[in-house]
Amino acid sequence: MTLYGIPPAGMRRAMAPESGRDHAHAIADAAHAWWTAHRGGSSDRAIAVGTLAALALSAPSRAEGPDYGPLLLPLNDEQLVDALRASWNAFWTYDPDLTEAARPLHDWLSHPTDSDVRGLSDYARVLVRAGLLEYCSDVTRAESDDVLGLLITRMRSYSERQSTGEFFTPAVATDFMGDVVLSSDRRPGDLFLEPAAGTGTMARSAAATMRFLGTDPAAYRWWLNDLDPLNAACCAVNAQLWRLGRQVTVSCGDALRHPRLLEAAVRERAERASAEQKSRPVLYPTGTRPPFWPWQSVPPS
Ligand SMILES: C[S@@+](CC[C@H](N)C(=O)[O-])C[C@H]1O[C@@H](n2cnc3c(N)ncnc32)[C@H](O)[C@@H]1O
Repeated sequence: MTLYGIPPAGMRRAMAPESGRDHAHAIADAAHAWWTAHRGGSSDRAIAVGTLAALALSAPSRAEGPDYGPLLLPLNDEQLVDALRASWNAFWTYDPDLTEAARPLHDWLSHPTDSDVRGLSDYARVLVRAGLLEYCSDVTRAESDDVLGLLITRMRSYSERQSTGEFFTPAVATDFMGDVVLSSDRRPGDLFLEPAAGTGTMARSAAATMRFLGTDPAAYRWWLNDLDPLNAACCAVNAQLWRLGRQVTVSCGDALRHPRLLEAAVRERAERASAEQKSRPVLYPTGTRPPFWPWQSVPPS
């Protein structure tokens, strides 16, 4: 049985690539292929990655959670934009500071142009059909690779990456390093600090190793920084996808030259975001559906 052209979530899970890592690559490949064919190369990468990030955040937090696929597939471009806004509204309620850190991924939603929005609902259908919701709702799958980092890498040219030294460590290598780092004594409350985090894949491996060893990553503190705003924004979303918990700081700046300034900036941003969220509970008003659709109510922050 199919609903709106896709099988139900349980069947989609069964049909997904067996390895989470293969699944992540299949999603990033499908996203990149669509974007290249329909929107032209690496232009608008904040929109390509931001749309994937918003849909990833909208996945149920448990594998057996509700199936949003059939709700997302029939949307047109305008309705899809409102669904993306609803996803960021929910994240804003849950964690205003991380939502602020993720701003480069969703800022365009405040005043999107016609060309920003063109074809986005088709792009979303490609992501849903590739199993993005199932990938993100299953923590073992979600932490097996860095789907946002994979897409960003595909959307940056080799010369661009060379100029910033931006070559993310492959998952197979970070997993090994995670095992080494965590083999020494660690105590809950310790800080895991990544000053040049890229999109955070080292933290992903560390968290996966912790969970494998029976420790909850949420018992630790995490600080992910990167010089590149889009990378840092992905760290903020990944912290949620990888269930790093509530003690996460994400910053964007030069970790070599101005570490003290970074500390002051993140403190100030967290206070500002928390105050702003109280006075403005809905980050992006919606026109075609409720501001937290399809989540009728979201837990208080
Ligand atoms: C080789 S990548 C590694 C990323 C990640 N640690 C990994 O293993 O996949 C280096 C990252 O460092 C960032 N970077 C370079 N110079 C930096 C600086 N001075 N402060 C913070 N980040 C920096 C780049 O933007 C890039 O994302």
